Amino acid sequence: MKNVACIDDLRTIAKAKVPRVFFDYAESGSYSEQTLRANRADLEAIRLRQRVLVDVSERNLATTVLGQKLAAPLILSPIGLLGMQHGDGEILAARAANEAGIPFTLSTMSVGSIEHVAAATHKPFWFQLYVIRDRGFSKALMDRAVAAKVNTLVLTVDLQVLGQRHKDVRNGLTVPPEFRIKNVIDIATKPAWAWSVLNGKSKTFGNISGHVPGMENVNSLGKWTQDQFDPALTWKDVEWIKDYWPGHLVIKGILDVDDARTAVKMGADAIVVSNHGGRQLDGTSSSISMLPRVADAVGSDTEILFDGGIRTGADIVRAIALGARACLIGRAYVWGLGAGGQAGVAKAIDILRNELSVTMALTGVGRIADIDGRVLEGGEAKAKPAKAAKPKAKAPAKPKAGG
Ligand SMILES: Cc1cc2nc3c(=O)[nH]c(=O)nc-3n(C[C@H](O)[C@H](O)[C@H](O)COP(=O)(O)O)c2cc1C
Repeated sequence: MKNVACIDDLRTIAKAKVPRVFFDYAESGSYSEQTLRANRADLEAIRLRQRVLVDVSERNLATTVLGQKLAAPLILSPIGLLGMQHGDGEILAARAANEAGIPFTLSTMSVGSIEHVAAATHKPFWFQLYVIRDRGFSKALMDRAVAAKVNTLVLTVDLQVLGQRHKDVRNGLTVPPEFRIKNVIDIATKPAWAWSVLNGKSKTFGNISGHVPGMENVNSLGKWTQDQFDPALTWKDVEWIKDYWPGHLVIKGILDVDDARTAVKMGADAIVVSNHGGRQLDGTSSSISMLPRVADAVGSDTEILFDGGIRTGADIVRAIALGARACLIGRAYVWGLGAGGQAGVAKAIDILRNELSVTMALTGVGRIADIDGRVLEGGEAKAKPAKAAKPKAKAPAKPKAGG
């Protein structure tokens, strides 16, 4: 990956290599994309404080999340249809994360299944759960995750109905891609992509196909989501999931102080302050603008993770200074995958790590734990609560009985 200087370069390469229907799927936000834009604009508006003549010759990016050692405060976020950005995308991203010493989170809506990723990797990964109407299926997914030695469940709670992305409608997003003449011509110009996907272990929703009766042919993502995602989901469901799941529970999609307090009351080991990368409620606040408020309210009671708009190392410093323990990254590594498979994901992680290290040096800090409000223009001495969870058993021994 020579001549790639930044995440935006990976995006440019991915755009040339990945069929438009899937590139647009990853890039877009919902409706008028106000929240998508706010995620970036609000991060960029936060000024860092330049400090000089501090000895920063020793810099250490390592940290812990849920008792797990991370080589850098980064986690690969759950991404639906990752295997449509590059064949075996989930496996390749998980391997790149393994090598970089950070967690990979597999989405319920992945192309490669839990079992595919477990068989192709050596270290535990995280699993993201969408609870669908059929609670038995959700339990079965948790059982499969336990069997695959997953110890951290990321329960996503901000998608009980689907925010529309206009380009997905216009492009006719289906899985596998539909034989529309426009799509066929586009794919014909992307032979490397077509080859990698044709040779991938799975070409549809790996966790679902063959497990949900009648879902052998998953056609429209929007329709499946509409039919199966449960708008009646409530905190009561979090209660049984907490009860059923034997490992760490992370609740993803918290953007409100009251919801954050409830999540803590329900026993979340961590929360992710997130608006789904601007893909759900259009017009809601950027994640970064809500982070300090959530951190103030619950940061000493749970671990706070953050996502939404992270594209540079400076963004990571901003989020940690405002109360995050670590950041999930989405599109930054999706573009890496589309641009160059596993090497592209590794490049994305590397770019962010290097930029983080330089930003730390120029703001005068040597360790992640030393990043706090003082690195921000006008920031306060200690803006950052720092709750660290007690480690749980690495791999839960057995799923609880029940169906
Ligand atoms: C293409 C795409 C697919 C996604 N699929 C999921 C998913 O299946 N489950 C989930 O919890 N979040 C999903 N997300 C949201 C991400 O996990 C994450 O919250 C978001 O991408 C962070 O914003 P960023 O892309 O600006 O870094 C998806 C995001 C994108 C861009």
